[in-house]
Parts: sequence; C-alpha cells; structure tokens
Amino acid sequence: MIETIEKLKADGIALINDAATLNDVNNVKVKIFGKNGDFTAAMRGLKDVPKEQKPEVGKAFNDVKVMLEGLIAEKERVFAEAEKQARIKSEYIDVTLPGKKELGALHPLTLVKNEILDTFIGLGFEVKEGPEIESDYYNFQLLNIPKDHPARDMQDSLYITDNFLLRTHTSPMQARTMTTQKPPIRIVVPGKVYRNDDDATHSPMFQQVEGLVVDKHITLCDLKGALEVFAKRLFDEKTKVRFRPSYFPFTEPSVEVDVSCSICHGKGCRVCKGTGWIEILGAGIVNPAVLEACGINSKEYSGYAFGFGIERIAMIKYGIPDIRLFFENDKRFLEQYK
Ligand code: DAH
Repeated sequence: MIETIEKLKADGIALINDAATLNDVNNVKVKIFGKNGDFTAAMRGLKDVPKEQKPEVGKAFNDVKVMLEGLIAEKERVFAEAEKQARIKSEYIDVTLPGKKELGALHPLTLVKNEILDTFIGLGFEVKEGPEIESDYYNFQLLNIPKDHPARDMQDSLYITDNFLLRTHTSPMQARTMTTQKPPIRIVVPGKVYRNDDDATHSPMFQQVEGLVVDKHITLCDLKGALEVFAKRLFDEKTKVRFRPSYFPFTEPSVEVDVSCSICHGKGCRVCKGTGWIEILGAGIVNPAVLEACGINSKEYSGYAFGFGIERIAMIKYGIPDIRLFFENDKRFLEQYK
C-alpha cells in the first residue's frame, strides 16, 4: 500500500508540474481527487489494510493529500494572478490620452451677424430684439402701411389670426422703440422674419437686421456715412456704396442701396450679373408720418432707417449660390466657415 501511495505522490507531482493553465490545474484536480480520481480510488483500498497498519497507512495518505493539495493551490494562485495581470493589461485605459474631440463651431450666419452687429456697436448703436409673433398694428399700420395698402403685396405674410402674424420684417421694432423711447435713438435689431416665399434665394424664414437713428438734423448723408463704414468693414476697404431712388411706405425719400461688387470690383462678373453693383438693402429717411404716429415731433426730429437680410449678405460675402445650404446642416458645407 505504501508503494501505491508513493506512486500516487510521484504521479501527482508530475501531473501538477505539467499543468500549463488554470484549466489544466482543474483537470488535474479532478484526475486525482475527483469521484473517480486516482487518489479517491486508492483510498477505497484502506478498508482492506490490516487494522494495526491502518494508522500508518492513513497518515501516509493524509500527508500525500495535504502535500498535493498544497501544490495545486499554489499553482492555482500563480495562474489566477497571471490571468488577472493579463486582463488588467488588456483592459488598460490611458486616461491621460487626449480624447477624440470634434469641436462645434458658429454657424456662418451667426458669424456674419456678429460681424455686422460689431460694426454697428462700434458706431454707437444699441442692439435690440423684438417678438417674432407681431401685431398687424406694429408690423404694418404704425409703419404707414394701412390695411388694404398695395405695399402689403411686397411682403407675402403668414397670419396667425386676423390681427397677429409672423413678422414679415424687423421694422416693427422701429415703431416699438419710437413709441416707448425718446430720441436720440440709435438701434440695430437682428432677428428672424417670415414670409410665404421659397426658392433658391428666398426662404420662408430668414434673418434681418433693422437699423434706426432718430435725432436732431439727421440727413441722408448720415445714412450714407454709416452704410459706407458697414460695407467697407463687411466686404473690403475698396467697396463703394450707391443710392438709387426707391419706395417704402415708412421712409421718404426711400433708397435701394448697392455696393460695388467685391468679386470683380466693378468690372462686371457672374455674381453682380455683369453690372458691377450688388443690391444689399433698403433704406431712407424716416417718413415724418411714421415719426408722428409714434409720438415723435417731426418738426424737431428726423431719422434714417435701413433693413437687410443676413442670408443675402452672407451669400454675397461668401459666394453661396443657394439659400437652402444654410438650413440643411450639411457638415461639409458648415465646416468651411469654422
Ligand atoms: N422692411 C423692409 C423689408 O423687409 C426693409 C427696409 C427698407 C427697412 C427700408 C427699412 C427701410 O428700415 O428704411 O423689405
């Protein structure tokens, strides 16, 4: 029996030594100590050992068992530790690495709007904003466009009720300011406006900037001076400004304002349709009827006003052919203006 036990020991040690993985160790454990394992089988022979030898044989069994179990436990510990280290290594995250970042950027229309506002702020204008749902009274009537006036045809309007509509221009803020504020007034009003219009150069929603100055002795020369600074800053120093007579109910006289083409500098090109000039805005001297309707004495005060579309300015500045590009959110388009 003692030889059997010695052989169990030698075989067991060899098996444990050969185990190369945690799985091997488990298999060895089953092979030795499992229900049908070598050691378990040999132990069954203990009952046939003569009584007086039992203590000695029993102790020999036990010594081998303790020894082999110790070796197995040690191997298990080593492999488990190695596996843990391997896992830590494979799952390692370097938290100090820079992230994969994609920074947002301002929309080209916001960039152009900010540049426009900066210029007017530099000229002493205050920035004001107003409601997008506007009453017929402020949007039209106070601006000298009574109900059924043919000038309403110039702006295809989106009504909400009989008396409220989505504002068709930012001009109502002229009236809102003049009815609540005493001159001198010097404001620019950026904001969204809405018209029933939709093609390559018109969008049902677009943005405008309205300008209004009311003070003593304001003339067309003041208007031209301010617009020249604006155009030179926005396009380039060589830009020229010209006025053409026009009509708006809220200004008298009214002008259409052109800038010399910044692409061809007046020679004529595709952008200016061969004329050398590009129309950018409407303006004029505030109609005395509007001043009076808003409670300002037109004998004492005069003013100028102007209004233009931000999309149109951005399209001219960057040579963008279709207004819809601004609203499609195609990153290939937007990223060019970062
Ligand atoms: N409100 C006009 C429009 O949307 C633009 C405009 C023209 C505004 C002349 C003005 C102005 O203040 O004086 O078409």
